[in-house]
Amino acid sequence: MCETVDEYFEVALSLVKKAGNLITAHTSGCKTFQQKSCDIDLVTEVDKNVEDTIIGGLKAKFPAHKFIGEETVSSGGKCELTDDPTWIIDPVDGTMNFIHGFPHSSISVGLTINKEAVAGIVYNPVLQQLFTAKKGQGAYYNDRQIHVSTIKELGKALITFEAGTSRDTEKRDAVFENFKLVVNKAHGVRCLGSAALNMAMVALGGADANFEFGIHAWDIAAGDILVREAGGVCIDPAGGKLDLLARRVLCAATPELAQELVASIAQLYPERD
Ligand code: IPD
Repeated sequence: MCETVDEYFEVALSLVKKAGNLITAHTSGCKTFQQKSCDIDLVTEVDKNVEDTIIGGLKAKFPAHKFIGEETVSSGGKCELTDDPTWIIDPVDGTMNFIHGFPHSSISVGLTINKEAVAGIVYNPVLQQLFTAKKGQGAYYNDRQIHVSTIKELGKALITFEAGTSRDTEKRDAVFENFKLVVNKAHGVRCLGSAALNMAMVALGGADANFEFGIHAWDIAAGDILVREAGGVCIDPAGGKLDLLARRVLCAATPELAQELVASIAQLYPERD
C-alpha cells in the first residue's frame, strides 16, 4: 500500500462535503427520530445515511481500512481499535441540535494509524465551518491556520462542557459538580451540543479548554488531532495519555490549564467503548 495520509484525507474530505448536503437539507430541524440508549440519546435516518455515504465511499477506495462508526456500533457493529488505518466516524455529532434545528452539528471523521489520530475533519455544513488537521501539518479553520489560546489559568478561561446524552445518576452528579466548579471559577462556560465542535473551538482559540465524560471515540477522534495540531494538549481527564476508547477527554490550550483542571474536576469512569 503506497497511499499517504494526504491521499486518505482528500478522499475523506470530499465524502464529508458530499454527505454535508444530507444535513443541510434539514436546516430547520428533523422531527422524525428514534431513541437509542435513553430518551435523550437519539438517531435519525440522516445520521445513518451520512454514515453509509462516508463509510461506503472510503471502503470502496481503501478496502483494507477498518471502521468505527457511531450508528454501525449502535446497531451491534464492532468497536475495535487496532494498529490498522481506522476511520472513526460520527455522522451527526450533535444529533439533538440537528433534530431541533439548532445550527451546531458536525460530521466528525478521524483517521488513526497505530491507534494514534493522524488526520481529522470536523464539518458543520449549516454554518459552513470546516476544521481540518493532519499530523505534523497544523490545524485549519476553512483555509486559515489556527492556534490555541495562551490561557494558563482556569480563572481566565472560557470552558466548553456538556451534560451529555445520559440521565445516569452518577454521571449527572459529576456533571453538576463540574458545572459548579467552572461557573464558580472560570471566565465562562459554553455548551455547543457537539463534542467535536467544542474541541474545535479549543483548537480555534475561541475556547480555552473542554472536558467530558461519557463521550465515545467517534465524538473525539477528530477533535484530538485538531487540538494537538493547533498547539494544545489532549489527554485523559486524570492526567494520563488520551485513550480514545475510555470515554473520557480533556483538552486545553496549555499544559498548565490542563493540569489545573485535572486537579480540580470530579472524575467519572464510564464503561469503555
Ligand atoms: C453527543 C454530542 C454531545 C455530547 C455527547 C455526545 P451525538 O454526540 O457530542 O455534545 O455531550 O456526549 O454523545 O450523540 O450527538 O453524536
